[in-house]
Amino acid sequence: MNTRNVAVANEKGGVGKTVTVINLGAALAAMGKKVLVVDMDPQANATKGLGVAVTEDMLTTYDIIKNHKSPVIDQAIVPTAWDGLELLPADADLAGADIELVNEYGRENRLKRALTGIGDTYDFIVMDTPPSLSLLTVNVFAFASEVLVPCQTHPYAYDALENLFDTIEVVQDEINAGLEVKGIVPTFFDQRTRVSHEILEKLKTDQRYRELICESIIRINTTIAESANAGMPIMHFRRSSSGAADYQALAEELAGQGRSFSLNVRQRIHLRGPRLPAAFRWSSSRPRQKYDINCSRDSGLIRTPFFSFGKPGPQGQIKGL
Ligand SMILES: Nc1ncnc2c1ncn2[C@@H]1O[C@H](COP(=O)(O)OP(=O)(O)OP(=O)(O)O)[C@@H](O)[C@H]1O
Ligand SMILES: [Mg+2]
Repeated sequence: MNTRNVAVANEKGGVGKTVTVINLGAALAAMGKKVLVVDMDPQANATKGLGVAVTEDMLTTYDIIKNHKSPVIDQAIVPTAWDGLELLPADADLAGADIELVNEYGRENRLKRALTGIGDTYDFIVMDTPPSLSLLTVNVFAFASEVLVPCQTHPYAYDALENLFDTIEVVQDEINAGLEVKGIVPTFFDQRTRVSHEILEKLKTDQRYRELICESIIRINTTIAESANAGMPIMHFRRSSSGAADYQALAEELAGQGRSFSLNVRQRIHLRGPRLPAAFRWSSSRPRQKYDINCSRDSGLIRTPFFSFGKPGPQGQIKGL
């Protein structure tokens, strides 16, 4: 099984990371995917939001990353009330991990080491992170293949994206070259407010982010908070809510994406293939057409059955299509 390891991250607090983890996980599971939610936030909101109360005898993400020889991961994973959705829970002990591991060798890779063995069991491993670049987030980034960034449609959240992308670049350089930003999910979108529309427009037109913006937008919906409080994913709490529909759409978008890319440039070009760096900008002088190109990437060279391109130019434009 080709497991997709998805980090849901944003250093900014309260942007919807945890509800995205819970509801995306549940929606993917309802689509028949096998999903593991990993809670790497000492606030343990994903754990509570999935209706799991951690007791003394349970193992948590803290136990997994604390010891050089971590316990068998299977013993820490618990089922949830929903088919196909399992949880590696957290509790407040995790807050101490940052300091306790400060002098430990290989501390960034503890989660990766523990989870690598079970990869094949799941279609998706969806990981919640705290609102800071702590060792916990770094552990998640070290194991993840892709990052999903919830971004509140609010000016502060938009401004904070720059820092996050800098951080991700450092992680790509230093720890995990394969890490890729899969998408930015606009959250807390309020149809009635001008600021929501303005920030959404900014995201969609900003050349740093526009190709990464998910088509699915999460609208503001108080049922989302109610369902988290009730310890249930929204689709099982109130199926008819806009929040349930939005997270369903996001799950479909993410699952359908697979390894194909569709990029909005002067025209839309569909690409299928291994990961391509997000920084690449594609352009074509051809009239509207859909291209299906199987790409392979080899030290900056992109080869397809039809074309082969050198490194992108200064603007990242690949010429020759
Ligand atoms: N679309 C939404 N509409 C209404 N309320 C929402 C929405 N998304 C999240 N919330 C609520 O907003 C609060 C913050 O959401 P959440 O906990 O998911 O953010 P977070 O990014 O994980 O926060 P933190 O950085 O503290 O971990 C929660 O009370 C949640 O229930
Ligand atoms: Mg959270």
